[in-house]
Amino acid sequence: MLEQLSQLEKESLAALEAVKDSGALAEWNRRYLGKKGALTQMLRSVGQLPKEERPAFGQAANKVKVALEAAYEARMEELRLADTAQELERGAVDVTLPGRPIGPGHLHITTQTLRQIYAIFAQMGFQVYESPDVETDEMNFELLNMPPHHPARDMWDTFWVSDEASAGSAQGVLLRTHTSPGQIRVMRERCPEPIRVILPGKCYRYEQITARAEHQFYQVEGLAVGHGISMTDLIGTLTEFAHRFYGAEGRIRIRSSYFPFTEPSIEADIDCIICHGEGCRVCKYSGWLEVCGAGMVHPVVLENGGYDPEEWSGFAFGLGVERPAMLKYDIDDIRLFYGNDLRFLRQF
Ligand code: FA5
Repeated sequence: MLEQLSQLEKESLAALEAVKDSGALAEWNRRYLGKKGALTQMLRSVGQLPKEERPAFGQAANKVKVALEAAYEARMEELRLADTAQELERGAVDVTLPGRPIGPGHLHITTQTLRQIYAIFAQMGFQVYESPDVETDEMNFELLNMPPHHPARDMWDTFWVSDEASAGSAQGVLLRTHTSPGQIRVMRERCPEPIRVILPGKCYRYEQITARAEHQFYQVEGLAVGHGISMTDLIGTLTEFAHRFYGAEGRIRIRSSYFPFTEPSIEADIDCIICHGEGCRVCKYSGWLEVCGAGMVHPVVLENGGYDPEEWSGFAFGLGVERPAMLKYDIDDIRLFYGNDLRFLRQF
């Protein structure tokens, strides 16, 4: 038996030398050390030996078992190191290769358009004044000459922040539906100084999203308050803006309109920059494109801002930002602006 044991040790160690991968190693383990392995079988047959030979054989067999287990562990480690070395060689990184270039980002089309608008109005002496996105009903409606239940409130579908009970009352809190509440804030802050400001910002409307309407969009409000300001100043300012934004050949058309916070109220159109008045899909074959709502600041609004309407007058306008950009760059769907599709955004 001792002879057989020694034979088995030699044979198994030689077989272990020949093992080249982890699959073969597992097979070797099963064959020699596993439950039905050769060494295990031999240990089990110890009972067939005469009693006096059993201790010596048991000791020898255990020694062989320990030796084989150690050899197995060592071989496993060797194979693991060889595998790692091979793996590294396969995926070797050439650190001398140049890195992949990361392209510089650029400003979003809305930001670019806002900056163009700021620059044009800055040249006409308008400062930028910022007012909050979350407003009170009082600022957004009441002080703009729209008391509770005024039917004109329906012109602006509102996202209420406060609960239903306070919606539509002076305590109501909402996401501003337009930048016009900023008129009251700036008047109250500057009174009794003359004012010439633009108020840019995001507006929110509980509206269906379509190719021309988003529920979040930008406006730039304009406000001038002074002595002897007239409709001519308003029309002159809008004409100048349209020429600088769309090009010198653009003509302006003024239509009468209605806003509760201006009297008289107007809407300004520019002749279509795509078809130059001939009629096309963009201008819905009218030859004209709407630029903004505007008018002379209503006496009630001047008063709410702290100005005496007998002494002071002013004009105001509310310009969209995405729609003028759509017209300028011939974009046919406003949803592209905030869809985060880089194929669209990279074009500007
Ligand atoms: C107003 O919001 C008035 N506050 C404008 C105003 C200011 C009038 C000062 C008089 C004096 P209106 O709802 O028409 O008006 O919006 C003005 C502009 O905002 C529109 O011409 C359009 O360019 C843009 N706009 C309005 N609703 C949306 C929308 N859902 N998505 C994108 N742009 C919009």
